This record gives sequence, C-alpha cells and structure tokens, in this order.
Amino acid sequence: MTSSRSSIHGEWSSRLAFVLAATGSAVGLGNIWKFPYITGENGGGAFVLVYLLCIACIGIPIMMAEVMLGRRGRQSPINTMRTLASEMGQSRYWCYLGWLGMLAGFLILSYYSVIAGWALAYVFRTGSGVFVNVTADGAASIFGRFIADPEKLLAWHTLFIVMTMFVVSRGVTQGLEKAVRLLMPALFVLLIILVGYAMNLGEFSQGIHFLFDFDFSRLTADSVLTAMGHAFFTLSLGMGAIMIYGSYLPKDASIAKTSITVALMDTVVALLAGMAIFPLVFANALEPGAGPGLIFQTLPIVFGHMPAGTFFGTLFFILLVFAAWTSAISLIEPTVAWLVENRGHSRIYAATVAGIITWLMGLLTVFSFNIGEDIKPLAFIAKFADSTMFDLLDYLTSNIMLPLGGLLMAIFVGWLMKKETSMAELDIHDHLHVGYRVWLFLVKFIAPLAVIIVFLEVTGIIDALASLF
Ligand code: PHE
Repeated sequence: MTSSRSSIHGEWSSRLAFVLAATGSAVGLGNIWKFPYITGENGGGAFVLVYLLCIACIGIPIMMAEVMLGRRGRQSPINTMRTLASEMGQSRYWCYLGWLGMLAGFLILSYYSVIAGWALAYVFRTGSGVFVNVTADGAASIFGRFIADPEKLLAWHTLFIVMTMFVVSRGVTQGLEKAVRLLMPALFVLLIILVGYAMNLGEFSQGIHFLFDFDFSRLTADSVLTAMGHAFFTLSLGMGAIMIYGSYLPKDASIAKTSITVALMDTVVALLAGMAIFPLVFANALEPGAGPGLIFQTLPIVFGHMPAGTFFGTLFFILLVFAAWTSAISLIEPTVAWLVENRGHSRIYAATVAGIITWLMGLLTVFSFNIGEDIKPLAFIAKFADSTMFDLLDYLTSNIMLPLGGLLMAIFVGWLMKKETSMAELDIHDHLHVGYRVWLFLVKFIAPLAVIIVFLEVTGIIDALASLF
C-alpha cells in the first residue's frame, strides 16, 4: 500500500517535473567544476572507473531509496525520518539522519556559493572580452588575481546567496521545472560544441586516454574515497535534497525510472565536461592536477580563440550559474521545509535566516583562497597538513557526511523497512521480480558494505587488521 500523506509544501506537476528538478539538483558545479579537477588530481582513468562503478552500484540504488523515503514521509527529511521510524517501530533517533543532512546542506552550500560566485564573475569577464586571444599564462594570472581579492569573492558570494534564497523563498515546486526544462538541453548542446572544439584545438586523444585508460597503480585508498564521495555529491545524495524532492513526487511516478534517468543525465554531463577540458589541459601544457581553478584557467583559453568565443563563453558561464543555482536551491530546501513545518515560519523568513547563516559560513571559504590561505586548521594531522578550510569543508561533506548519510538511508530502507512497503513504492507486485531483487541486494549489502569498507580502508583500520594475521 502506498502512503496517502501529502506534502504541505506542494507537489511537482508531473513525473517529468520531478526528473527535471532532480536533474537540476544533480547537475551542477559537481559535474563541470569538480569532476574534472578531482579527476586531474587523482590521476585520471582508474579514478573515473571507480566513480562510474560507484554511481551504478551505490548511487542509483541509494537514490531510489532516498526518493522512496521522501515520497513515503512527505515532509522535511528530519520529520520524514521521525515519522517513518515511528511507523515502523524503530528508534526516534533516526531523525538525526535528517539533522546530519541539514548540517551537510549548510556546509556544502557555504562553499558551493563561493565557487558559484566565481562562475558569476566569469560571466562578466568573458562577456567583456578580456579573454580574447588570451594565453594559458594570461588566463591563469587573471584567475590568480581574482581569487586573491577577498572583497570580490565576497561580493559574488553574496549575490549568489541572495539569488538562491530568492527562489527558495517563493517555493520550489513552481518555477524550477520551467527553468530546468530550458537550461538542461542548452547546457548539453553547449558542452557538445565545446567537446567538438576540443577535438580540433586540443590534444583530443591524449585527453581521452587520460580519462579512460585505467592505470590502477595510481589509485590510492583516498582516491577511492574521493570517487565514492563524489558519486554521492554529484547525485545530490545522502543529505536529504533528493528526499525532499521525492516528497513532492506524485504517487504514480516510477521511482526506478526517474532515478536512473537522473543518474544517467548527470553522468553524461560530467563525462562531456571531462572530454572538453582535458584535451585543452594537455594542448596548453597545463597541469591536470591544478586544483579548483582548473576550469577557470582552461575554458577561457578556448573561448578566447574560438569564433564567437565571447558569445559562447558568456553563454557557457551563464548556464553554469544556472546549473549551480538549481543545485544550491536543493541544498537548502530541506532546512527551509523544516523551519516551515516545525517553527511555523513563512518561507521568506526561513529562507532569510538560512541564507544569513550560510553566508556567514561562506566566509571560511572566501578567505581560504587569499588572506586565510595559510590557515591549516588540521596541520597536526599529516594527511591534512596542507588542507585549507575550504579543502576540509569539502572533505568532511563529500567524503564523510554524504556517504555516511547514504549508508544510513540504505540500512533503513534495506534492513528496517518492510519489503511490502518498498515493493508498493516501486509498484512491484511480485517478490521474484528481477529488478527488485537486484535493487534490494544492492541497497542491503553492496552499497552499505562498499561504504563501510572504503571508510575502514581510509582510516587504515583494514591495514591494521591485516597486519595482525
Ligand atoms: N549535485 C550537486 C552538483 O553536482 C551538488 C549537490 C550536492 C546538490 C548535494 C545537492 C546536494 O553540483
């Protein structure tokens, strides 16, 4: 039996609207900014393979579980978890899964907004033509000067937070779908143009080899963790964004089909971005491991040299801002929904409060690139000796909080939820249904075990145990 609850915050107008909104959440800076630079830092091919495996075996099954929780609970993640746990006779402490997600949402948005601010700034830079005929050194030095200026970063961060809170305060079930419907195809087309351009201008085959040749000797436990963490990050999993969007999903929509569609689109966008960027990295003798500035140092070179580059470049950064915007909205929606449900605040008030808190936390990231770049809060731990506040926030959220949240969701759905319930939500009437059994096996065993093993491996516990024998 499916649940008869409905959400007080509204409902998507159709299944397609949910797919669009969830894709809007998934496709963002993670695909275009983060995927290329972490792939570069982690040596390419083997990292990409682990990432793809994580999407297929952990990401998609957990996404289905998360949508299911949302649609069944129909409230903010905290209240959804509390309600479902009590209905199932489980501990009310499960609501802390919602709290963990809410905290992760704040932490992620705090730095996400700063990077989205870079993209905003680059709309205007590209538009003004400063990149026309720019050299690789020129693009790097423009970027270097930009992030060295805390006032500029702060201004763009502020603008992005205001934009995000503006939409959130008006409610996300209206409007978002329209924006994404236009934006996603446009982003696709533009990425394909860029890949086409990279084929001519760049060292295309070297870029492709870098992305797809699997050299496992370059893979460390930490890069496996990064690949897994990124699978969660890029699919917006483990913190309640997909849960809250699932709570607005009409009853008759297929959870499996929608989840797979969203994951596929997200993966294609990331791979296209990689295929556009790495050929250029090699053609311009840039360092694949250049870090968070990678796309801001490579793409301007293309736009500076292609016909109508100023136009395409401006359009590209506008689309990137939109992609980031639709993701940012989903990062804060669980919090706003909770403030409305439990505190009775208006959406405007809730969004304002959440916005102010995130803005303040964003200062940590703003300063990580300039006046605070020498602050290494965990310098006493060898592994984090060089990590700035931004690096730590990113590590804590993507590599720890999201996989942990996803692990708990998988346990809840796989082990505690009745089979009848998950079958009803997936609209399956036969215990022996192959798809259902595969999914259940993945959420029950593979996804949780994979997360646990990677966690243990990174902390060195597995090595320590192995040395006992
Ligand atoms: N998936 C988004 C991206 O790739 C980021 C995100 C993470 C959004 C977690 C919501 C929740 O940019």
